[in-house]
Amino acid sequence: MWYPSHVARAKKEIRQNLRLVDVVIEITDARIPRTSRIPAMKELLGQKQSVIALNKADLADSVVTSSWVQYFTEQGHEAMVVNAKTGQGVPELIARARAESHRASTGKRRLRPYRAMAVGIPNVGKSSLLNRLAGRRSARTGERPGITRGRQWIRVAEDLELLDLPGILWPEHTTEEATDLLCITGALPDETFDVEVVASRLLGRLDRTLAGAVSERYGVLPEEPGEALAGIARQRGFLAPGGVPDTKRAAQALLADFRSGRLGRVSLEEPDDELV
Ligand code: G4P
Repeated sequence: MWYPSHVARAKKEIRQNLRLVDVVIEITDARIPRTSRIPAMKELLGQKQSVIALNKADLADSVVTSSWVQYFTEQGHEAMVVNAKTGQGVPELIARARAESHRASTGKRRLRPYRAMAVGIPNVGKSSLLNRLAGRRSARTGERPGITRGRQWIRVAEDLELLDLPGILWPEHTTEEATDLLCITGALPDETFDVEVVASRLLGRLDRTLAGAVSERYGVLPEEPGEALAGIARQRGFLAPGGVPDTKRAAQALLADFRSGRLGRVSLEEPDDELV
């Protein structure tokens, strides 16, 4: 579970280390770019430029992701589409971070490599992306058991270093909608919410194309979320003693299928969605 004191500590860590870097890489989940960003990032960053990495782009609708790139660009950010699992977009992200660092340090005599800091809420793909960025150079001593994980610099390119901070930035979700999105995408641990409620809400959100994917995969109609979980349980053979459908297992299976892209590419937020 997250605690306000953890969030405060992680933010303090960012603030204290910000002066060491030229640019910040904000890792977000391309399916929920607004909700997976750290709300206080703008205040935290001050004058520091950030590059927004829309990660897990393979799980999001590519048309919607393009509209997010345009949206962030219009807001004065740099936004890049990335897939940390395959490495797609990673060279472009490095190039952009380097270019932004160069811009930030123009006029100053540079005796050191450019420096970037990576930040992101849990499960957004930060470790995967850092491993990709580090490539074969990754010598992340802190990952060995028994060694306390502290501030680490990872060499990403000849002239670019990346700061990985150990603090965990739990999302400070304030609305029910945002909480739902974080639960659905796996940013919040399953033990902290009712998976059946969240899975039913996911079924209620799916558009027509995805509703088709759900009925094809499980033989149920997501238009009736209340019934659909029982239908999924029956189809999967998730039955409790007495043949009662195990709707909790069905909900877990549905969320796992959604999160891994087995129900197709789905964006859960669009730039012009009304903010709730
Ligand atoms: P974190 O450090 O931000 O907490 O996230 P981490 O890298 O551990 O990634 C969380 C999960 O998201 C992992 O899946 C990882 O493989 C997956 N992931 C990261 N980036 C991408 C991406 O661009 N596309 C897709 N499809 N998945 C991504 P996992 O199931 O927890 O682990 P694993 O089974 O892949 O090892």
